[in-house]
Amino acid sequence: MVKSYPNVSEEYQKAIEKCKKKLRGLIAEKNCAPIMLRIAWHSAGTFDVQSKTGGPFGTMRFKAEQGHEANNGIDIAIKLLEPIREHFPTITYADFHQLAGVVAVEVTGGPEIPFHPGRLDKEEPPVEGRLPDATKGSDHLRDVFVKQMGLSDKDIVALSGAHTLGRCHKERSGFEGPWTANPLIFDNSYFKELLGGEREGLMQLATDKALLSDPVFRPLVEKYAADEDAFFADYAEAHLKLSELGFADA
Ligand code: HEM
Repeated sequence: MVKSYPNVSEEYQKAIEKCKKKLRGLIAEKNCAPIMLRIAWHSAGTFDVQSKTGGPFGTMRFKAEQGHEANNGIDIAIKLLEPIREHFPTITYADFHQLAGVVAVEVTGGPEIPFHPGRLDKEEPPVEGRLPDATKGSDHLRDVFVKQMGLSDKDIVALSGAHTLGRCHKERSGFEGPWTANPLIFDNSYFKELLGGEREGLMQLATDKALLSDPVFRPLVEKYAADEDAFFADYAEAHLKLSELGFADA
């Protein structure tokens, strides 16, 4: 899909740059990169390519969407972001939440992901149930990422590597524990751990394990475990696509 990005004013671009700096500061101070990445992903991942509904358009600002089962705990991210949000009233929620995701990856040592501003806020949250179910397998992952969102098999594996950051919280998802030994560092350890098998204290969801048993996914897991540069390049490309689903399509 060829993208045709909207022109934003110089003033808006300046506000984005300033906001980016504030986000870096917040994430460094509160160690909250994981939940910032999760809010960006849960905003964008509701996109439905057929109906063109959902997606990274700021609807996570609504209590209705925060209340979706998959979003348990996402209000914590909203609260952390509030003081910054207040300083940048001209920036759309859509841009703001995606910017938080891009900065979270960057400041934890991950690849730089290009950011194009200009998303507009939608007024309607998506229907519930569009985000993946952690207890399912590769058919389900393709239903959500490929059929619904319009991404690719490669994007599924690369984006799953985001679980290099953060952890599961019993009171939020019902699961418990981090995927890697350094959940505040963005690297390729998620793939190394996945290939190494289950380990005391570390987490592997059914959707993570599905990457090992699928004949298309597994070679990518092996490639990313062996070659961090290859992971970073594919991750940046996939994250950019995710953050722009339904945005600037010509
Ligand atoms: C492949 C399907 C996916 C499933 C089933 C899934 C499921 C989950 C679950 C159950 C949690 C734990 C939430 C909690 O208890 O706090 C989680 C956390 C997380 N997910 Fe995913 N996820 C998927 C893909 C992704 C993608 C594509 C990204 C980003 C690109 C992502 C980023 C994260 C992050 C950063 C956390 C940690 C949040 C924290 O520590 O607060 N996930 N995910």
